[in-house]
Amino acid sequence: MSKSFTLIARNAKVRELISNIDRIVDSNGSVLLTGETGVGKEIFAEYIHRTSNRANKPFVKLSLSAMPAELLESELFGHDKGAYTSAVGEKKGLFEIADTGSIFLDDIDDVPLKIQTKLLRVLESREIQRVGGTKTINIDVRLITASKINLKELVEKGIFRSDLFYRINVVPFDIPPLRERRDDIEPLIEYFIKHFDSQREISISGEALKAFINYSWPGNVRELKNHIQRILLFINEEIKLSDLPAEIRSENPIDYIMKACNNCYLDGEMNFDQIIKCLEHNLVEQALAKEEGNQSRAAKKLGLSLSTFRDKLKKYNINTHK
Ligand SMILES: Nc1ncnc2c1ncn2[C@@H]1O[C@H](COP(=O)(O)OP(=O)(O)OP(=O)(O)O)[C@@H](O)[C@H]1O
Ligand SMILES: [Mg+2]
Repeated sequence: MSKSFTLIARNAKVRELISNIDRIVDSNGSVLLTGETGVGKEIFAEYIHRTSNRANKPFVKLSLSAMPAELLESELFGHDKGAYTSAVGEKKGLFEIADTGSIFLDDIDDVPLKIQTKLLRVLESREIQRVGGTKTINIDVRLITASKINLKELVEKGIFRSDLFYRINVVPFDIPPLRERRDDIEPLIEYFIKHFDSQREISISGEALKAFINYSWPGNVRELKNHIQRILLFINEEIKLSDLPAEIRSENPIDYIMKACNNCYLDGEMNFDQIIKCLEHNLVEQALAKEEGNQSRAAKKLGLSLSTFRDKLKKYNINTHK
């Protein structure tokens, strides 16, 4: 693997995810990566390609987000001379360019129905035809796709073809949001400090680290990365609490919980019982984080007996190791 590639993973769930990926990496099964914005779908796609037996072959990526159907079609499958009035020359599509390697299609949920049909045909026949072309070209490509949206729901709504969904969802991996793997925050901070500032020896104060760990990270790893990059411009040797933006400094557990539950509510994906469970889960988790893992203090704070508190930790499978 090339030196420039680092995938940080201290969290047990993420490590398990990686070991599951390692197990299937040399199969040619299509992989679907799901997860919120900024969780690392693209870096995981790259990990899959780079550790597979296709590592020395091409790896091409394309975001399908908001792309008009005609442009997308020619990007993916190429076109022959004269295919459109604007097509002066011929053009290889990304499937052809990726031949023998892997192709990563981000935001697959956004692909127009017309292209879904074409994509399905390509995946089934393993051959393509350029737009305006007559020749069929065999292709051998490993497909990796990513989506922030639950594709199953789009299938139910009739916006996404179910046969295509089953084709791309052979091996699904869901990458958890950063707030569900807070033990990754410290190693990520250390890594991003080195990444952006290899010259200086920068440390982080305990208080600042705690604020980073308690924050809810709606933008996940990308948000953390951007904050570190910006903070490094303004500090000398240590990242202190006062160097952090207000939203991270002042995030208190109740703000955090309200934000999380508001998302559940607005998404409309959860019913009343599920939202109440989410609220309870978050309350217990936040109390524990606030008391730095001390279960007796966290239980007291919530007015619960220690045994009830522990039952809830177990019920929600909350990580008690800080
Ligand atoms: N585990 C990790 N170790 C190191 N860097 C990471 C890790 N996860 C994410 N990053 C970095 O965080 C940034 C965001 O990750 P990435 O672009 O892969 O997220 P994404 O899920 O594809 O986001 P989006 O849904 O917005 O496209 C990238 O710069 C990526 O390199
Ligand atoms: Mg991405």
